[in-house]
Amino acid sequence: MDFGYTEEQLMIQDVARRIAQEKIAPSAEHFDRTGEFPLENIQLLGQNGLMGIEVPEQYGGAGMDPISYVLAMIEVAAGDAAHSTIMSVNNSLYCTGLLKFATEEQKQRYVRAIADGSQIGAFALTEPQSGSDATAMRCRAVRQADGSFVINGKKSWITSGPVAKYIVLFAMTAPDRGARGVTAFVIDTDRDGFHRGKTEPKLGIRASATCEIEFADYVAQPAEVIGAEGEGFKIAMGVLDAGRIGIASQAIGIARAAYERTIEYVKERKAFGAPIGSFQMTQAKIADMKCKLDASLMLTLRAAWLKGQGSKFSTEASIAKLTASEAAMWITHQAVQIHGGMGYSKEMPLERYFRDAKITEIYEGTSEIQRLVIARGETGLR
Ligand code: CAA
Repeated sequence: MDFGYTEEQLMIQDVARRIAQEKIAPSAEHFDRTGEFPLENIQLLGQNGLMGIEVPEQYGGAGMDPISYVLAMIEVAAGDAAHSTIMSVNNSLYCTGLLKFATEEQKQRYVRAIADGSQIGAFALTEPQSGSDATAMRCRAVRQADGSFVINGKKSWITSGPVAKYIVLFAMTAPDRGARGVTAFVIDTDRDGFHRGKTEPKLGIRASATCEIEFADYVAQPAEVIGAEGEGFKIAMGVLDAGRIGIASQAIGIARAAYERTIEYVKERKAFGAPIGSFQMTQAKIADMKCKLDASLMLTLRAAWLKGQGSKFSTEASIAKLTASEAAMWITHQAVQIHGGMGYSKEMPLERYFRDAKITEIYEGTSEIQRLVIARGETGLR
């Protein structure tokens, strides 16, 4: 693993940092307070290649590597976590499965508009009764005599669901086969039979719109099946492996923003006649924050590097996501504590970082699921 970045990687990091600092961070408080979807900022990210970083140029993306994705995600998340959530769903959850399993025609049709940011994509696996236990899904796709599928059922917690044009959906085509009975489809949300529920009021990442979606006799054509029938669960798991690198990067971005604010604060804020950063109790917190931040970055780069080499990276992605998300929760907690009353106030972004960090321990596999994936990978036991 090379510890230096290439010119291209530094370039995309710089583009992401500029947009994050000039456009996203200044509007983050507004979008957090109102819960409005930041469409203009998202389109700007798309125009700059940040909505399909690993998507080849012939499908409208930037054609870059997984390390570039990590670096860009960190910058955007440091500007605002909600923007990076929308970015991660377009980049990883939507585009990854299509790029790996879709036909050439499907890629031209369904990847381009999402990768250039002109449309938003989503990923629908979770249901009201099945989150971690993804194979317990009830959404059904029943094959008809003409080869089409009729889809019925509900999916919940769909990030970007309220605004998505296309959704990668996982539904049971053969319920008696369990994980091997799941099939992936691409859904056009303008079609009859697709309905959206209310937008979820959330603790954090409030500008990333989330809703329940429902299918009532939605008809999907055979050309809208991704990969082979029955291959959907493996597609979902592979996509989530890639997605977890994105969430680890997001967690690092949130934690870094909280850490940088804290470093400024401990140098300025005085108590008992000295800057609070000169007290050993504060120093211990700063040192632990920095260790967790750097360890998270190294583990995330390792997972991204393995992915870029075409090697297996499932366990490493879970290690990165688990470490970075728990680090983000701890670091933002300590940042609020060090800022005292100001940390608790909405006049500073610390409380927002703290609220935003929590989701990284929950979505794209909870910390408990990451531990399960890591331990299964290490022992080979189920
Ligand atoms: N890549 C490819 N295939 C995989 C895989 C991977 N990483 N992991 C498992 N599989 C395959 C297995 O090999 C197995 O295949 P066979 O049937 O051919 O043997 C099949 O998938 C079933 O695997 P398991 O028996 O391990 O399945 P399980 O029921 O025990 O579940 C699990 C495994 C790891 C718990 C899985 O269900 C899981 O990851 N759950 C968490 C789901 C999740 O992350 N949800 C997040 C929702 S999306 C989200 O949050 C998005 C958002 O809004 C931002």
